Amino acid sequence: MSEIQRCRDRLRKASSLLVLTGAGISAESGVPTFRGGGGAAVWRGMPFEVLSSARMVEEDLPLVWEWFDYRREKVLACEPNAGHIAVAEAELSGRFASLTVITQNIDGLHQRAGSRKVVEYHGSIHTARCLDCGELRDIASVDVAERPPGCLKCAGPMRPNVVLFGEMIPLDAIATARDAATGCDVCLVVGTSAVVYPANEIPLAARRNGAFVVEVNPEETPLTASCDVSLRGNAAAILPELFRE
Ligand code: OAD
Repeated sequence: MSEIQRCRDRLRKASSLLVLTGAGISAESGVPTFRGGGGAAVWRGMPFEVLSSARMVEEDLPLVWEWFDYRREKVLACEPNAGHIAVAEAELSGRFASLTVITQNIDGLHQRAGSRKVVEYHGSIHTARCLDCGELRDIASVDVAERPPGCLKCAGPMRPNVVLFGEMIPLDAIATARDAATGCDVCLVVGTSAVVYPANEIPLAARRNGAFVVEVNPEETPLTASCDVSLRGNAAAILPELFRE
């Protein structure tokens, strides 16, 4: 039996599926990844870990907004690809009693493809959050000249509603991820370098709880050795194949 057939067989028998995604699933939509291919993202000479940091919000909020406005514009010009669509169709087909997508991506492409149960582990580039009271606001409704956007509830300054380096994952996302990891029969890990904690712990927790873990990535990652199967290749080609019944 080929590796992909082994995975299909497991998927056929699974009632609960967890799909953990990273930047690689959006690569073929045109959204740049952070790592991979031997490089790391840099903007205006600054590494992305410096721009996307809690410290930068304190030191230079306008620059943080510029960086996220730049990225949001790129994302808005992209469309979901065959990988996102295959995941959404698997959920909407009802073939799994439960299918949870946990994404490290902030681009909203899973939802645009039709996925309903999506945990945005690192937040969303499409919303702003008040620094004073935590209220959220849809960025599409804010004039781009209004930076930082003002909170509609308390008039406080707002920041991008994303998890930055040095910040905690929202507690509800952690709880949902824990439940999904401990309850799934198959855990599909797509397009992540698996170097960022705590997202990279999710497949390991799934494995400890008996799940069959499948990685989809053109490159080897630190997670590869802990996977039951590693499918080397691009998400937009492999995921439709994998979910073909
Ligand atoms: P990375 O950019 O670290 O890794 C992208 C992965 O996708 C690499 O392992 C690539 O080999 C793989 N890849 C590239 N093209 C692919 C394709 N077409 N199909 C499948 N895989 C492909 O992205 P993440 O692991 O998501 O966090 O990064 C994790 C976090 O680091 C991000 O959420 C972000 C970043 O800092 C924050 O900003 C908090």
